[in-house]
This record gives sequence, C-alpha cells and structure tokens, in this order.
Amino acid sequence: MKRNKIVAGNWKMNLDFEEAQTLIEDLENLLDEKQPSCEVIICPPFPYLELATDEASEHELFEVGAQNVAAWESGAYTGEVSAKMLDSIGVSCCIIGHSERRKYFGEDNKTLAAKVNLALQYEIVPIFCVGEVLEEREANKHFDVIRKQVEEGLFHLDIADIENVIIAYEPVWAIGTGKTATPTQAQEVHAFIRKLVKEKYGDDIASQIHILYGGSCNAKNASELFAQPDVDGGLIGGASLKAEDFVSICEQASK
Ligand code: 13P
Repeated sequence: MKRNKIVAGNWKMNLDFEEAQTLIEDLENLLDEKQPSCEVIICPPFPYLELATDEASEHELFEVGAQNVAAWESGAYTGEVSAKMLDSIGVSCCIIGHSERRKYFGEDNKTLAAKVNLALQYEIVPIFCVGEVLEEREANKHFDVIRKQVEEGLFHLDIADIENVIIAYEPVWAIGTGKTATPTQAQEVHAFIRKLVKEKYGDDIASQIHILYGGSCNAKNASELFAQPDVDGGLIGGASLKAEDFVSICEQASK
C-alpha cells in the first residue's frame, strides 16, 4: 500500500492576528491554484485556531492542528487547553512531544503518553515528535533515545489507536538551525522507527503509519527528503510561515 504524503506547518509562537489572517489567505490562494495532492495541515497558535478551522471547513484546502494539548481532561488547570475544547472547534490533530515542549516545559514521556490518550479519546490525531539532541547523535545514542521516546510515549496504545497516530522525527540539532539531516540520515531513523512499530504491531500497521521529517526542511531540500522510502512528508517550522515556501513543499510532497 502506498502511503499518501502529509505536510504539516508548525507556526510555533509567531505572527499576530492580522499576520495570521494574511498567511491563511495567501495559503488558500496558492493551495487552490496548485492543488497539491498531499494532505496539508497547519498548526497555528491557539488564539487563531478557530479562524483556521472556520476557513478549513469552508474551503477544504487544509486541516488544522494544535501545537499542544493539556494532559488533563478538564478542571482547575489555569492556562491549559483540553482535547475536548480543541475537538469542539474542529481541530483534527495535535503536535505532542515537540522537543521545545520537552526542553522548555519539562514534558516527559509519561506526560506525553497522557496527552496522546486524551487526544485520541477526542478523535484528534496526535503528531508525536521524537528526536535526539546533538550530543546523543555524536555519542551514537540516537537510536536508543528514539526507541525510548516511541516506546514510552506510544507503545501502550492498542492497534485501533496506534493506527491514528502520526510520528514525526525531528532531530533537535536540525530544528531552526538550517542544518538539515541528510536524506540518508533521515531515512535511516525513519526505517528504524518503522521497524519498532512492526515489531510491536505487525506489518500492516507499520506499512501504513506515517512518519514525517522535521528540522530545517524547506523548499530547497524537501524533494530529496521526501524521495526517501520511509519519509512520508514533513513537519515544517520556519518555512511554514511563508506561503510560497510552504506550498512549494506541499507540491514537492505531491510528486
Ligand atoms: P524548522 O523547520 O524551523 O527547523 O522547525 C522544525 C520544527 O520544529 C517543526 O516542528
């Protein structure tokens, strides 16, 4: 079975409301013109999600993801946003375990597993991020690090749930640094993750699960990354803030 490609834009903590409106409008115009065949997801900051889901349901050019979700169902958790709230405004997926959340907010695999469970409970597709820091790669520990992240964050799920998860490999040393993993490095880790999934859940799940690459993926290098057999698209940071670059990446994922 050939997997369709997915391109997701992680806007991170960027843009004011007006800039977000403009970016969405520009994306709509370009996506409408170019009609890429890949699945397109945008992940704006929380205050712009409803604007994005309104546009998504009107034009059907992209889906909308959040960048984070609470690890609790509801209640006295000041400042948090629940899976139920996201679901209620039409958000269909959610980045979970981004390295910036792990680093700056101390999110560990146990917390992330709870977030994954809540997202799935509300039929929100988790985009679960894994990846090693530079020292871990240099010490050749990256496979062990990624195995632990995948096992502790996801492998408690049963088959019916893991089917609805997207995994993103984002080597931390490549995020926002302009230093992309080579296609060979990306492929090696993606194949490793797929092997872990196969050992745990079998061939069918392993061959259908999507594994995205993230980390300085841009309009210049997307094609060769997406040409790798186990790279099913990208999770794009900086380049997702420029409509032309982002849509060019979507086109490269549609070949
Ligand atoms: P950059 O594309 O800016 O390196 O960010 C990648 C990323 O963290 C996407 O989640």
